[in-house]
Amino acid sequence: MSSSTFGRRPFLLGTGLSLGALLVLPTAAARAGGGKVAIPLAKLEVLKSVGGSIALKVKDKLLLLVRDSAASVRAFNPVCTHRQCVVAFSANDRKIKCPCHGSQFDLDGHVVHGPASRPLETYAAELAGEQVIVTL
Ligand code: FES
Repeated sequence: MSSSTFGRRPFLLGTGLSLGALLVLPTAAARAGGGKVAIPLAKLEVLKSVGGSIALKVKDKLLLLVRDSAASVRAFNPVCTHRQCVVAFSANDRKIKCPCHGSQFDLDGHVVHGPASRPLETYAAELAGEQVIVTL
């Protein structure tokens, strides 16, 4: 698959997968104004359950979305602040973990275990009906 195939479409990364295993999200997220992007929950089945998470690329930005409660979702830049590996959410202990050197982050993006010393970048995110709204 050429890089031009990806174009401006959002991509699923499948939590824990490398960037080399990108999958295409079948429909594009829509701009919701004010830097906001609306992603239909129907396209993010895994986020319908608390503890679900998914990594994807929207509008040229990587996102890790985590369903942290029945009423909320959180969004992160999944690029580890240590040496730029892609992190994944662990529902068992509700931490975001880096597979490369073991850094761990809480659901506010704060470092709870190094070697990373800087927090993950976070984005405002909310559930609005059947959509996830992320402010990029
Ligand atoms: S790249 Fe994440 S801990 Fe090193």
